[in-house]
Amino acid sequence: MADHDLNQRSLVDALDEPALVIEGLTISVANPAARELLGQSIEGRDIRLAVRQPELLEHILSGHPGDLDVAGIGDFGRPWRVAVRALDLGTVFVRLIDRSDNLSAEKMRVDFVANASHELRTPLSAVLGYAETLADDPGLPPETIATFGRTVRDEAGRMLRIVEDLMSLSRIEADRFVAPEELLDLGKVAQDAIANASVARGKKKCDITIDAPKTLPKVRGDRGQLVQLFDNLVSNALRYGCDKPGACIEVKLKAAGSRVEASVIDHGPGISRAHLPRVTERFYRVDEARSRESGGTGLGLAIVKHIVERHRGSLAIDSKVGVGTTVTVSLPAAGGA
Ligand SMILES: Nc1ncnc2c1ncn2[C@@H]1O[C@H](COP(=O)(O)OP(=O)(O)OP(=O)(O)O)[C@@H](O)[C@H]1O
Ligand SMILES: [Mg+2]
Repeated sequence: MADHDLNQRSLVDALDEPALVIEGLTISVANPAARELLGQSIEGRDIRLAVRQPELLEHILSGHPGDLDVAGIGDFGRPWRVAVRALDLGTVFVRLIDRSDNLSAEKMRVDFVANASHELRTPLSAVLGYAETLADDPGLPPETIATFGRTVRDEAGRMLRIVEDLMSLSRIEADRFVAPEELLDLGKVAQDAIANASVARGKKKCDITIDAPKTLPKVRGDRGQLVQLFDNLVSNALRYGCDKPGACIEVKLKAAGSRVEASVIDHGPGISRAHLPRVTERFYRVDEARSRESGGTGLGLAIVKHIVERHRGSLAIDSKVGVGTTVTVSLPAAGGA
């Protein structure tokens, strides 16, 4: 075997993605990933037997450098980009790049823009509709004018909340790789958030209790974001988990090994298993009408999830229909992990 063959093999083998060298019509080198995808014994075989898609075969055999997006090699439907480069006369180098992650990120972006536009268009249409009536009909009775005015104000407020939450979400995402630095007592942060929430509690009769040991290991965190996290969880418990008179909301903190755990517990209607995995998605609501009427944007738990990720923590939502919901956030203790 000539030296350059050896170099060629070690280079192709060193690639994680499937890669082949084809001389004429023969597969002269196939790295382990390519053998896994196309068959263990493809080396030395005719490329026309290993690759059966006519379009792909034509692309490879043309020998012209270029990329082709195809699906259906190996796993059903997995998208690949096939990159062909000419090496020598009659020799081509073929790489297969898995595009699944790329495409799902692209799909998420498209879905997100569509959802955000839809969420904003609904209140905007209401604002426009009422504003047009107010502008075009000077003879409206004063109480109708007042009602329409209030609707315009409420719907515009809703749009502002959506925009503020989206901005907040993108700020948290932008800081994803910036480690938070403040040394904080999570119990005190939770206490402050509860004090804020009780202002917003309005007519809700639920008591909120907090149970935190006097000395809790400190965590490294972003105070503003962690207040926002508790604020969202306590607001959800008040909004959705506080139907029965006398039901109480518990906030519990404890040290668990090298971590600090905080749980917000309510005894409300719970979330069914079908909805549970989706509640942290942006704009996902179990009961759209109820969330809307209480001013929800459907972004609260998405914000919580991103704050937890930025703090290298984990989030668990346990819920039982008719029993209640427990949301637990676990963060690494400072100096511990
Ligand atoms: N404690 C809970 N009990 C029952 N359902 C809940 C609870 N917390 C959240 N949910 C459900 O999950 C959905 C998503 O919650 P999330 O906090 O993301 O949005 P939201 O409360 O509708 O709006 P926002 O928090 O942005 O004002 C809610 O609409 C609600 O249906
Ligand atoms: Mg919420």
